Amino acid sequence: MSNLITFKKRIKKFDKKIFIPGDKSLSIRWILFSSIANGVSKSKNLLLSDDVLAAIKTVRKLGIKVYLKKGNCKIYGNGINGYKFRKNIVINAENSGTLGRLILGLLIDTPMPIKLIGDKSLSKRDFKRISDPLSKFGASFKLKNDKYLPLKIYGSNNLKPFKFFENKGSAQCKSAVIFGAMKANGKTYIKARKSRNHTELLCKYLNLPISIKNKKNYDLIEIEKINKIKTLNYDIPADISSCAFFIILTVLSKNSSLIIKNVNVNPTRIGVITILKKMGANILFKNLKTYKGEKNADIFVKSTKKLRPINCPKKLNTSAIDEFLLIFLAAAKAKGISYFKDLAELDQKESPRLKWGTKILKMMGVKTIRTKDSIKIFGNPDLKVNKSIIIKNYSKDHRVFMTCAIAALSFEGKSVWKIYNKDSIKTSFPSFLRVIKDLEKK
Ligand code: S3P
Repeated sequence: MSNLITFKKRIKKFDKKIFIPGDKSLSIRWILFSSIANGVSKSKNLLLSDDVLAAIKTVRKLGIKVYLKKGNCKIYGNGINGYKFRKNIVINAENSGTLGRLILGLLIDTPMPIKLIGDKSLSKRDFKRISDPLSKFGASFKLKNDKYLPLKIYGSNNLKPFKFFENKGSAQCKSAVIFGAMKANGKTYIKARKSRNHTELLCKYLNLPISIKNKKNYDLIEIEKINKIKTLNYDIPADISSCAFFIILTVLSKNSSLIIKNVNVNPTRIGVITILKKMGANILFKNLKTYKGEKNADIFVKSTKKLRPINCPKKLNTSAIDEFLLIFLAAAKAKGISYFKDLAELDQKESPRLKWGTKILKMMGVKTIRTKDSIKIFGNPDLKVNKSIIIKNYSKDHRVFMTCAIAALSFEGKSVWKIYNKDSIKTSFPSFLRVIKDLEKK
């Protein structure tokens, strides 16, 4: 079966420099901001994955002209009120929670109802967490079973600001409200648990009327209605979440080293690095620079002989939220028991990832104890996986597929991994298997 891939061998030692495709969060945000800008915005190195292509299809459906050639993209924005609404528009966010949730913020004034649908996995995810706050602006929603897609959004032409308390640490909820606030009459106040802050940084870079105060555990954001938004030319840096697969592969392999060029290392995204360093990994950022409000750097990583276990501080959870499956692999190789807690949000992703993380480790022969929102992992530096492992029915979660591939390539033993649905990588990292091939080349 062509969509099945089998891994029988571990990766041989490597010493390479690699390029990883553009950041997914930034690519989708660039498309959305450009679609409401006044004029033509250009990108370089836009991620060409299904989630991002779904964002392009979405703005095209709303009447925005987009020219796309490889990672070079031009978007012809018509201003904050420039979307063209027709009857019976259906937007398909496919697998993308970020697209499905953020676009709703920009649709709260739609004069016609718009239907939002998604694939099977997205249709199992919570959209009430978005419709509840956006209703406070004055828009209304009809959701399947009050919580899920498909949903219909009914806009309002009398949008009022409100005070939003975001307490899940969800950047998608926070960003949807920021987009809504750009259309509401007056000032919207947001108190948000720390989460990735790309939307706020882009607002600042674009000189929009936003103020951000960073407190210890929360960010306080104030944002007012906007009339005009300047165009945004953007060279998108590599995605740390995609780099993480190869950072872990290097850490877990023997005598190897890797350099990854121009990666976005926004402090709200690098929890995986902080955690791995606490576990003893050898990772360095070099050539650190600021680009349009974001921090980018080259990442240098080397194999680690001895990994320490970690009692992971929960304040690192949101900045590592997409990398926990990989972090669990590192914990499986550490000498001792690691503990990760307060991780209920992990089960809100493309698949229930706390459940899948536990399942993968069990299949590898690693002892775990899982509760509803925590996991203890009994690591073993001498772990050898001598099993035949089959991975399927995981809701085609791209990060489950890629994590299993990395486990297959890095843990010693005679394991044979059969992983179904390799197409899932198209969601976020279509060149994932090509990068592995490049590492295997002499
Ligand atoms: C994202 C936010 C996070 C993350 C997702 C991308 C974003 O989701 O898991 O992959 O780009 O805003 P939540 O906001 O649901 O935590």
